[in-house]
Amino acid sequence: MTPEQFVAGLPKAELHMHIEGSIEPALFLRLARRNGVALRWQTEDELRDAYRFTDLQDFLNLYYDGCRVLVAPQDFHDVTRDYLRRAHADRVLHAEMFLGVQGHTSRGVPLAAVMEGVFGAMDAAEAEDGMSSGLIVVVQRHRSEDEALALLEELRPWYGRLLGFGLGGAELGNPPSKFAGFFRCCRERGFKVVAHAGEEGPAAYVREAVELLQVQRVDHGNACLDDPALVAQLVRLRIPLTVCPLSNLKLQLVPSMAAHPLRRLMDAGLCVTVNSDDPSYFGGYVNDNYLACQQALGLGRDDLTSLARNSFEAAFITPEQRSAAFRAVDAWVAHSIQQAAA
Ligand code: HPA
Ligand code: ZN
Repeated sequence: MTPEQFVAGLPKAELHMHIEGSIEPALFLRLARRNGVALRWQTEDELRDAYRFTDLQDFLNLYYDGCRVLVAPQDFHDVTRDYLRRAHADRVLHAEMFLGVQGHTSRGVPLAAVMEGVFGAMDAAEAEDGMSSGLIVVVQRHRSEDEALALLEELRPWYGRLLGFGLGGAELGNPPSKFAGFFRCCRERGFKVVAHAGEEGPAAYVREAVELLQVQRVDHGNACLDDPALVAQLVRLRIPLTVCPLSNLKLQLVPSMAAHPLRRLMDAGLCVTVNSDDPSYFGGYVNDNYLACQQALGLGRDDLTSLARNSFEAAFITPEQRSAAFRAVDAWVAHSIQQAAA
């Protein structure tokens, strides 16, 4: 079995992807036509050509602009359903997706249109593919904490369906501490909490996310390696990192995949997971990320299996779902060993 075949059949969870970052160029153009949105690009090739970024802000400018093609509930349904289909094809058994609601409501899109479109697609994936998923609303860190708190209130009708809250967007200059009150409210209401930290920002932001926001996972977290005491704390508390290797490469946070810290994070004893972040912009879905690391860092089957097991350990799923997922991983590994012996 080739590494490609091993990764393709390896059961996994995806825990760090932005729904708005999964609009493939073809769907992007179709949605723009459907909604009469004028674009700077006319073809899929022109769009793909535009996906070159110097840093996070450079990417976010295009990403927020791209959100304009999402208007009606059906648009949110289509993009979410497409992502879940691709994830299912990558043998993702469970996906936890980020949605940057403020990027839509600030353009006048009703909150209900966004939520109903996304939840409808999640229900369809469960019914048609037996795939489970959860939704995490990510608040934009360049906006104020008051805006985040107002959104938390507006989301009340959907509390029963929401998994939790996260923090995303322009990291530098917007530390986690800015949202300490918001995160306390989220936790008090029983939500899971996660935050992007240590992607472009320093280790101190990862520490704030853990100590002040009390997050259950850190999104990215790469910069923790600059602070050995923080790494020890993350290991001791077993706080997972949702690492996004191709994203880090595309946003020029690492000069090459060979220079990516994934292996160092794993060797430090951290609970590391591999994810796609914004798959249509960063050149790959979750399996592409596993394979890029496998090739550049020489990961073996045991490493790949650990990453998959970590994804289910880190997922916000029930103990029953977790045991079933671990059994599925074990069965795939046993199958691959049998194949090798045959
Ligand atoms: N970082 C921060 N915010 C984001 C990202 C990212 O990579 N993608 C979408 N929102
Ligand atoms: Zn992200």
